[in-house]
Amino acid sequence: MADSNVSFPTAEYCVTFPRNFLWGAATAAYQIEGAWNEDGKGESIWDRFSHTEGTIANADTGDTACDHYHRFDEDIELMRELGIKAYRFSISWPRIFPDGKGLVNLAGLDFYSRLVDKLLSAGIQPFATLYHWDLPQKLQELGGWTNREVSSHFADYAAVISKHLGDRVTNWITINEPWVVANLGFKTGEHAPGIKDEKVSLQVAHHLLVAHGKATQALRADHAHSRVGIALDMRPTTPASDKPEDIQAAWKTWTREARWYMDPLFRAYYPPDIWTEYGSKVPHVKPRDMSVISQNLDFLGINYYTRTVCSEKGPVTKVEGSTYTEMGWEVTPDAFGKMLIEISKEYNLPPIFITENGAAFKDIVGPNGEIEDQERLVYLRDHLLQVRVAIEDGVDVQGYFVWSLLDNFEWALGYDKRFGIIRVDFDTLKRTVKKSGHWYSSVIKNFGFATEKSEHELIALTAAQRNDRR
Ligand code: FCB
Repeated sequence: MADSNVSFPTAEYCVTFPRNFLWGAATAAYQIEGAWNEDGKGESIWDRFSHTEGTIANADTGDTACDHYHRFDEDIELMRELGIKAYRFSISWPRIFPDGKGLVNLAGLDFYSRLVDKLLSAGIQPFATLYHWDLPQKLQELGGWTNREVSSHFADYAAVISKHLGDRVTNWITINEPWVVANLGFKTGEHAPGIKDEKVSLQVAHHLLVAHGKATQALRADHAHSRVGIALDMRPTTPASDKPEDIQAAWKTWTREARWYMDPLFRAYYPPDIWTEYGSKVPHVKPRDMSVISQNLDFLGINYYTRTVCSEKGPVTKVEGSTYTEMGWEVTPDAFGKMLIEISKEYNLPPIFITENGAAFKDIVGPNGEIEDQERLVYLRDHLLQVRVAIEDGVDVQGYFVWSLLDNFEWALGYDKRFGIIRVDFDTLKRTVKKSGHWYSSVIKNFGFATEKSEHELIALTAAQRNDRR
């Protein structure tokens, strides 16, 4: 390995990835940009939510965040130095349409145009997400995602973006994590717009899927070469025991969270078992909706952080012997590889990109400002190993985006939870590459990394996971 200060004492083998594997880093507009009311940007539901007392830990807001809006040159330069090949960012809808529809804010378009140009000149491929949760507040006043018309406004927004950036951006992600939008925004109320109604959340989920389908058409209309995908958050479930009730609980949770989106997207129907169980809460579906939702995708984006252990009494929050991140999420790399293998057998999937994977840990800043985030490094290494295992098993994973490039505004949890491979000092906004960032850079340069496991053991591991499939 080239970088001697990130080698492993016990490492004997190198895990290698395909030469054309795409190594990336991810962020989202509201979490990093700041400049919440500059250059004609409209208010978003996250501006409104974070400015409402009692919604965010420490009363944090995204008003300044990492100030990426003014510092994107520096951030891209850091990516170039690390050798990052692709950057997944999101576009703030209210920067483009301050009212959500109608008049376009040219200064907003110009910002993303400059960002894309800078990325391309640094040799970094842009992957643009159209919706990473910051709906224009003006559309919320029309009902937001509960209003079916918002899916058409989303398609109009997609068309404008495609017209202005489609000559330079090829890879698009329509919506980030529709399950989180629908559930945390409309069922538990932890996220903007803070509504708590399960029936409403199911209608929202449907409108998000319709919006995804319409935006897919819009992105391809002007630029036939566009590659379009969606990013789904996927938490595989494990039954807490062999009891049929626990097995059933695990299956139902997986169906509500993952199959509720995978089935419409890849099979053009909602899972019939849970549809029946939802009874009168099921969404209203118009005749052509399922074909709009299920058109071919160029890739599936998967965001993976952890699994859920399910018992009939609910999720098990503490598993004996497991380690947990600062988010309270169990560290479960094996479940990641296993899930990739399973879903690829179960569904007829397009190529996969891991559009998010990473961990929040407390950073300890050393005497010279260095950050030895060994836990994050090990988390990334063990999850990448599982990506490699899945590839070995024939799963078509074409790239990986670490979450996140920068420490940032972690939604309702504010700035305390740090996911970055680059530290941001939120007082001075100074960036410092962490040990995990240097390590990731070495992985990219070497097409892989050192591990204690041999290729032979890797293949055995794959076989074991294959046999262990439920
Ligand atoms: C995902 C979000 C992302 C970030 C990570 C930790 O659910 O897409 O914005 O907050 O979790």
